[in-house]
Amino acid sequence: MAGQAMVGKVCMVTGANSGIGKVTASALASMGATVVMVCRSAERGEAARQVVVAESGNEQVELLLADLSSMASTRAMVDAFNARHDRLDVLVNNAGALFNSYQESVDGFEMTFALNHMGYFLPTVLLLDLIKASAPARIINVSSDAHRAGKVDFDDLQNRKKYSAFGVYAETKLENVLFTKELARRLEGTGVTVNALHPGFVRTNFGNNATGNGFAGMALNLISKLIAITPEQGAETSIYLASSPEVEGVSGAYFDKKKAVKPANQANDEVAARRLWAESERLAGIE
Ligand SMILES: NC(=O)c1ccc[n+]([C@@H]2O[C@H](COP(=O)([O-])OP(=O)(O)OC[C@H]3O[C@@H](n4cnc5c(N)ncnc54)[C@H](OP(=O)(O)O)[C@@H]3O)[C@@H](O)[C@H]2O)c1
Repeated sequence: MAGQAMVGKVCMVTGANSGIGKVTASALASMGATVVMVCRSAERGEAARQVVVAESGNEQVELLLADLSSMASTRAMVDAFNARHDRLDVLVNNAGALFNSYQESVDGFEMTFALNHMGYFLPTVLLLDLIKASAPARIINVSSDAHRAGKVDFDDLQNRKKYSAFGVYAETKLENVLFTKELARRLEGTGVTVNALHPGFVRTNFGNNATGNGFAGMALNLISKLIAITPEQGAETSIYLASSPEVEGVSGAYFDKKKAVKPANQANDEVAARRLWAESERLAGIE
């Protein structure tokens, strides 16, 4: 283990078998944390867990399975977590993807919305009492600068009328920032902070699910090969927000390269943030 800074802390990282999430899990384990890796594939998840144990020298690395685009699967994962742990100090919502064509989740939501937004909202809300009881605690939402091109259309939240892969991806990444802002407002005074971040343009598996299916994934992969940064560089801001004393007490901010920066104007729309929260609760059947 490289350090002791996170000893005694329990951290959950979603989408932890690949890319930015895997590096984040490894770094937190290296600092001594107990790390719970949430992955959808038992095979890919266990292979990554073994790499994280070997890299960090920390045996306290666990795997929980969930398809985060499914509310039932997410609820089952949270139940399994609650059965094993009585605290959660850090939650890193990281699992995300871009879908080249319109697809629906098992709950009947558009798939990008189901995974990139509800896949952050639902685990967070279900785990919130435990996170509050573990304060000081932190929630980190991996967003993207793509949010700057995003617009939330509440009349067509599931993008049924029109579908563009990048447009819908940008919309969900804007939802990540709106969710962060509204959650920060709700968490004032609790000792729990929540921040969003842009990881940079990172060479990961991102976009691979769209490769071969169309232009969006191919373009992303080509550009990625040319200019993208490494997953280690791409995970730096997630790791910083999850562990650095420098950001203790900082909440509701949007970070890029470990600095708080201004998000797009539409990310500061408090009315939209409240409406998204209410709509997400309704869709999740939460009072
Ligand atoms: N790469 C970039 O340039 C970039 C830029 C800005 C923002 N981001 C954001 O960074 C985050 C991490 O992406 P990455 O670049 O590290 O991509 P990645 O290598 O593709 O990792 C994505 C992770 O999410 C998991 N995942 C996908 N669908 C899932 C589902 N239904 N249920 C549970 N887990 C699921 C993947 O699991 P599988 O391996 O099983 O698919 C994988 O572990 C995403 O939120 C993305 O939007 C990335």
